[in-house]
Amino acid sequence: MSKYSLIATAAMGLESLVAKEVKQLGYECQVDNGKIEYKGDANAIARSNLWLRTADRVKIKVGEFKALSFDELFEKTKALNWENFLPENAEFPVQGKSVKSKLFSVSDCQAIVKKAIVERLRSHYKKVSWFEENGPLFKIEVALHKDVATLTIDTSGVGLHKRGYRVNQGEAPLKETLAAALIQLTNWHPDRPFCDPFCGSGTLPIEAALIGQNIAPGFNRDFASEAWPWIGEQIWEEARNEAEDLAKYDQPLNIIGTDIDHRMVSIAKENAIEAGFGDLIEFKQMQVTDFTSKDQYGVLVGNPPYGERLGERNEVEKMYREMGQTFSMLDTWSIYILTSNEQFEELYGKKATKKRKLFNGFIRTDLYQYWGPRPPRS
Ligand SMILES: C[S@@+](CC[C@H](N)C(=O)[O-])C[C@H]1O[C@@H](n2cnc3c(N)ncnc32)[C@H](O)[C@@H]1O
Repeated sequence: MSKYSLIATAAMGLESLVAKEVKQLGYECQVDNGKIEYKGDANAIARSNLWLRTADRVKIKVGEFKALSFDELFEKTKALNWENFLPENAEFPVQGKSVKSKLFSVSDCQAIVKKAIVERLRSHYKKVSWFEENGPLFKIEVALHKDVATLTIDTSGVGLHKRGYRVNQGEAPLKETLAAALIQLTNWHPDRPFCDPFCGSGTLPIEAALIGQNIAPGFNRDFASEAWPWIGEQIWEEARNEAEDLAKYDQPLNIIGTDIDHRMVSIAKENAIEAGFGDLIEFKQMQVTDFTSKDQYGVLVGNPPYGERLGERNEVEKMYREMGQTFSMLDTWSIYILTSNEQFEELYGKKATKKRKLFNGFIRTDLYQYWGPRPPRS
């Protein structure tokens, strides 16, 4: 089967996690800013889309070359084997971006790439008229960085964070890919209790349940490349069968999500039902300072309000102080809090074991990590 150059794109700061996932799928990879590159066949395209929890998208790299003039961009684009990917009826819009490059007009780059691909396909398909573009979608991107053009085709369609379970959401939901990354940065194991005391729409508890039962995050959604003729239904069926075989639906879990806002608790419940965890995750309305647990060696991951809005800061900082006291009772637990508040450790009253810089959308945050003792070996 043909091997393709694949790129899993990653949000800033999550590259090493995406690389770890790609390796777990069995592919050697190289890590760069915002992307993980590896080689794989059609099967790898299906498996990557189904399994990667922390990547944004999976793309095929069709070519990469230096382009200092529009002529160069045109000729080198036309020289690529587009017919290997695009059938005669393909719909192929071209998007673009340009950073620190001589060819800075994105709209011109897009138009030139489109024209070059049309010419290439015309001579291959012996076509004199326009292509109707009424077939499967192949979203093409021309990305120029320091005069090097990278031409890719998106295999995912809507971003991989769209798992399909979020039927409703609150004000500041975590992206599912970031939620999965936060969990992977903890020492949580499905035998240990898991709690999110700021659960909002339930993203962290639901992602934890998916990880805990080894359920492929993309199992319940479609991908653009499912409609591509050269991948074929059988490849997707095999990848889905593999995911079904690897799921551990009988793995018991102790996952709870709480939130002060009863409307958020209802939304979280709705989303959990959609994800198939209606009976598995417990959601309760509760103020964080009321949180206690008889369980030992649990893992608590929380994305509290950051207090960035005017008038909110004092209230949020008071809550951070109270959290320090409440969580000090959980002496065998590991606590992980994501916030943009740089005074968090002082307010919470304890220096973190470790901090990790992460971006929640465009907000620079830190994951404050308080590692608890290891559970005794059972
Ligand atoms: C940033 S949102 C969490 C979003 C969530 N991670 C998601 O993906 O939807 C913060 C949540 O904290 C809740 N909250 C605010 N103050 C709280 C408190 N004192 N105790 C418990 N929850 C609180 C809010 O109702 C809100 O849902």
